[in-house]
Amino acid sequence: MIDLDKVRSNFPSLSLKDENENQIIYLDGPGGTQVPSIVIDAISNYYRQSNSNTHGEFITSKETDSIMDSMREKVAQFLGAESKECISIGQNMTTLNYSLSRGLSKIIKKGDEVIITELDHEANRGPWKTLESYGIKLVEVALLKDGTLDYNDFKNKINQRTALVAMGMSSNALGTINDFNFIKKITAKYNSLLLLDAVHYAPHFSIDVKSLDCDFLICSAYKFYGPHVGLLYSRPGLLDTLDPDRLIVQEQFAPYKIETGTLNHAACSGVSAAIDFISSIGEGNSYREKLVSAYKKISNHEYELASNLYSHLDSLDNVTIIGQDFSNKNRTPTVSFIHKKYSANEICKKLGKVNICAWDGHFYALKAIQKLNLEKTGGVTRLGVSLYNSQEEINRTVKVISSF
Ligand SMILES: Cc1ncc(COP(=O)(O)O)c(C=O)c1O
Repeated sequence: MIDLDKVRSNFPSLSLKDENENQIIYLDGPGGTQVPSIVIDAISNYYRQSNSNTHGEFITSKETDSIMDSMREKVAQFLGAESKECISIGQNMTTLNYSLSRGLSKIIKKGDEVIITELDHEANRGPWKTLESYGIKLVEVALLKDGTLDYNDFKNKINQRTALVAMGMSSNALGTINDFNFIKKITAKYNSLLLLDAVHYAPHFSIDVKSLDCDFLICSAYKFYGPHVGLLYSRPGLLDTLDPDRLIVQEQFAPYKIETGTLNHAACSGVSAAIDFISSIGEGNSYREKLVSAYKKISNHEYELASNLYSHLDSLDNVTIIGQDFSNKNRTPTVSFIHKKYSANEICKKLGKVNICAWDGHFYALKAIQKLNLEKTGGVTRLGVSLYNSQEEINRTVKVISSF
């Protein structure tokens, strides 16, 4: 079990109050989580002690090199990757995915096909749509009304020409977890590359790229208690076969090959600290074991709170939940709903007035919200449970929503 008081004491921003002394409740985690002191300190210490560019012959530059190396090593452990050479850094997931699509555009042949899904965030759709201008065909897997992907549609659409399948591990709008193991079996049959968007999955579950057997996986540290840095895993050897936009003066090999310009070294030291923070919640003999054990605790805690939130909201006459129920654990702790009397934005305004943070709209999962016929009415209200949330916070939120 999680020692919640201890966990919460790490996050300075949890103590913020509004002018009416309402303690802030963060249910906006899927848009970005709060950050523990260890991350804040790592970032400010970088500027105090190690600030420099890389590959110089002096102390701060050598420290920056070692901070960057150790960060790649920690991310590799975090994702279960083969080595730090598989980990590339970017501004955020969207930017990395655009670079990847540019790099692949020169490899994937005219007439080949790329599969995306209707459930995905635009960051895993838009970059692949640019390939259409190279004569590559885009194919979309349909979203069903219950918030899951149509796997029969996927089976019908994949074929010998499918060069790449780009899909999310879970939906940031609905909390659906996709059947990526099934997808992998089929992509393997057709020799298609598999890219997984783990942005909404990584805050809630541990990831093991080797057992996922994916070719690329992308996530964003600001969704798991870190700063705004995008992280890309590429299967060993794969990045070197791509042809991304590149300055001739930068390294032409993995993991640097897809990175451009000077990285945000301070934020990168914050990424290491965020992973250290997660590992400190778990037990085990190795860093990886601690991370896996931490995630078991995190997902159990979050599931308990979110399933409770779900069942209370589901019992309210004015509320309709959009997405799957919590009858099995194959769900992220993200609960989206619409209200009979108020739009999603009105609900968020009312919650905001009592210091409860929640998002409304489509959260860039535009196609999914359109497909569910919810775009014109302003989308859904999304409540995302994170590691630091408590049962009291859920009770208070349910009480407030019941009063609308
Ligand atoms: C599922 C998913 N994919 C991709 C992104 C884009 O990530 P970034 O903001 O790092 O570009 C988000 C951001 O909300 C997301 O939730």
